[in-house]
Amino acid sequence: MNDYVRIFDTTLRDGEQSPGATLDSHDKLEIAGQLARLGVDVIEAGFPAASPGDLESVRRISEVVGTPDGPIIAGLARAVTKDIDACREAVRAAAKPRIHTFIATSDIHLKHKLRMNRDQVLARAAEMVAYARQYCDDVEFSAEDASRSDPAFLHEVLAAVIEAGASTVNIPDTVGYAEPGEFAELIRGVMANVPGVDRCIVSTHCHDDLGLAVSNTLAGIQAGARQVEVTMNGLGERAGNAALEEVVMALHTRRGRFAMRTGIDTAQLMRTSHLVSVRTGITVPPNKAVVGANAFAHESGIHQDGMLKHQTTYEIMKPETVGLTQSKLVLGKHSGRHAFRSRLAELGYEHLDKGQVNRAFERFKNLADKKKVVTEADLEALLADEFYQPPQVFVLESVHVSCGLPALPTASVSITTPDGSYQTQASTGTGPVHAIFTAIDHIVPIAVKLEEYIVHAVTGGMNALGEVTVRVQTCDEAPRTFSGHGADTDILVASAKAYVAALNKIAMAAGFKPPGAGDESQAASDSQSEQVVSEP
Ligand code: KIV
Ligand code: ZN
Repeated sequence: MNDYVRIFDTTLRDGEQSPGATLDSHDKLEIAGQLARLGVDVIEAGFPAASPGDLESVRRISEVVGTPDGPIIAGLARAVTKDIDACREAVRAAAKPRIHTFIATSDIHLKHKLRMNRDQVLARAAEMVAYARQYCDDVEFSAEDASRSDPAFLHEVLAAVIEAGASTVNIPDTVGYAEPGEFAELIRGVMANVPGVDRCIVSTHCHDDLGLAVSNTLAGIQAGARQVEVTMNGLGERAGNAALEEVVMALHTRRGRFAMRTGIDTAQLMRTSHLVSVRTGITVPPNKAVVGANAFAHESGIHQDGMLKHQTTYEIMKPETVGLTQSKLVLGKHSGRHAFRSRLAELGYEHLDKGQVNRAFERFKNLADKKKVVTEADLEALLADEFYQPPQVFVLESVHVSCGLPALPTASVSITTPDGSYQTQASTGTGPVHAIFTAIDHIVPIAVKLEEYIVHAVTGGMNALGEVTVRVQTCDEAPRTFSGHGADTDILVASAKAYVAALNKIAMAAGFKPPGAGDESQAASDSQSEQVVSEP
């Protein structure tokens, strides 16, 4: 097993701390399910002590995704009993639960943040690991800001927590300060100087402030680390964490050099990246390694010529390996439901139930009517639009737009509201999207500020399916950011869907119920009464 690197995914915890990332418990459950299909070893599902909502979503993930064959489900806890109690409560339903507790070990953090001396931190770390061990056999300890800690003190703390029962010790480069040679030295120092480390898994957790997170993670593996803490698309606090897809594909593509394996099904990488991007509202830059839209695009004539002669001239990974297929969908508009279902299964959507397959099939037929050729990428976007949507509290029924040169852009929108009434409003705007959003604002009683509007074509060509992502901020005392996503061959319709999806997430958080599901007036917001503690 010494050549096996455990993939600890923290998209739902550190990734969710990305500025502007917004995930509700429904999103988190979907992402956790996909991370399990991707084959990660550990899902850090959240920080249960942060709020009752966080605790609840970690508990749901533990119940649904934390099956005996599934991944370990971890929750994060500061080294205080209250956090560990909340974490235990949240992960106890998982077949393989883990409590991940942490305290800082650098003098900077001890002096300015914790206001504790070294002896106090040493004692607290060991005491809290022992406390967590009463509840759970699998306890991980992180020495926050390890890379700026005095190595001798770090070794002392790690020895104490291993003695107290930690089975994984994590060495974070919390502020992304280390460079690869230095980080490897840090890991080698831990491997050589910490009594009991041979009974433990040593883990890396690298942030990307200097763009070195993936390099540092790989250097850590070469120095002996056998768990890496990573996030999909490199999301995370500030500049983010080491990107899962980059670390995994480096190990896979350069296996001759690293001689390491992981349990990741690389063909699920694209889908996971897309899901995370749609759900968080944080789009993937086109030039992003492995999962960016241009990662396999060859633009210059010399490169295209080389590719035509032999793929290996300019391609070190096959697009299929990461789940990117340009192949045409062999199904036409006359294909039957059965053939469609088998095609979905081949694409990895075997988990959809009959009703979902039927809905997807109808959408596929409509798309096949409009577009001559439906690619797998189109189908992926369509499935995301159909299934990765929040509950429809406000149901978008129709959108009509008139615009042109010269013309005053005018939109008319119809929406069914939670009380079941069908409302239509018209508005003008500086452009058609502005007119649509304003008309929606006249119906939906939720005030927001548009922060970001991104549109992109799923495939090339005039008849491409368009995907729109919007990010909006609530206009209340404690503004929160929500995102929405929509896909359609008409980008104005996709825009309306994305905007309504974002408003629906806010409506759900405020306690509104979809039409026919309950009383609109019960807008008692759980989240408003949540007591939020400061994030790590
Ligand atoms: O960056 C960090 O140090 C962390 C720890 C809480 C693991 O996220
Ligand atoms: Zn972190």
